[in-house]
Amino acid sequence: MPNDIRGEGLDRVLVLEVGRVTEAAAIAAARLRGRGNEKAADKAAVDAMRRELNRLHIRGRVVIGEGEMDEAPMLYIGEEVGAGDGPEVDIAVDPLEGTTICAKAMPNALAVLAIAERGGLLHAPDIYMNKIAIGPGYPEGVVDLDATPADNLRALAKAKGVPIDEITTCILDRPRHAELIKAVREAGAAVQLIPDGDIAGVIWTTDPEETGIDIYLGSGGAPEGVLAAAALRCIGGQMQGRLMPLKDEERERAATMGADVSRKYTMQDMASGDVIFSASGVTDGSLLDGVHFRGDFAETETVIMRAKTGTVRRIKTTFRNIGTKLAGL
Ligand code: FBP
Repeated sequence: MPNDIRGEGLDRVLVLEVGRVTEAAAIAAARLRGRGNEKAADKAAVDAMRRELNRLHIRGRVVIGEGEMDEAPMLYIGEEVGAGDGPEVDIAVDPLEGTTICAKAMPNALAVLAIAERGGLLHAPDIYMNKIAIGPGYPEGVVDLDATPADNLRALAKAKGVPIDEITTCILDRPRHAELIKAVREAGAAVQLIPDGDIAGVIWTTDPEETGIDIYLGSGGAPEGVLAAAALRCIGGQMQGRLMPLKDEERERAATMGADVSRKYTMQDMASGDVIFSASGVTDGSLLDGVHFRGDFAETETVIMRAKTGTVRRIKTTFRNIGTKLAGL
């Protein structure tokens, strides 16, 4: 039986195959970099990702997708994907993470996917989530979503053995974060603002020596929160998130999906069991290179991680005859 999970986690072959899915989405979106058309780039990524997902030997169910069935024609929440002849898995997709940065050809747009054993991913509605994340190597619980930014930064600096002014916080550049940014700076830490793309923001905390980022704070999309938690489950680190419904309709949607808006979700609550995470760069960024087109060739960079083993693979792929690839052949 292909991709058998039989209590041993997800199949090893599947780990390599998921890379194809994000590679295809990244190439499709990359063709539309810098065109100022978020929707077209997103649609291209969605189409390519769905096509490749349907080639995998899985019985997949989208739990984090492009929206509800009535608002998303493809990769909607609940959609069945895969060739239908493998294990039952749950899937979280963000075919184009950073639609605006892709449309503006700015850094760090990604194609992202996570696959977990059935029931392994939080069914999060597309609303905001308040998030906190740090990388591996710290004592469990050193930071907490309910503590003040100053307390968290002090505790993190102490655990890292550095003064607080050597701590850098990654935060989405949004007016709603004005108070948070002020509090972090007043506590003595630095702030690195990002225009979009907080899945990468969370992942950057796992390698502070390379990225300069120690902690991620603030609110962003809940789907992106689950995908980031899936990545951290594989590389290590700590993350907590709490849904932030802004209106009754969002509260109701969360309830319908079985999510608890008062609960502080841990990383394990958001992504449990064996999980595979794959991301391919669309535009060049500090996590991954974007797609480079050279004549009839395209080169992609992908990172694939697996929770069960903690293995992290970086794959550079050269596609020849890119016209065929784009046609989905
Ligand atoms: P999209 O690719 O869907 O545009 O998401 C980009 C993003 O920056 C996410 O990384 C982040 O979680 C979310 O948007 C933040 O939402 P908002 O732009 O409303 O602050």
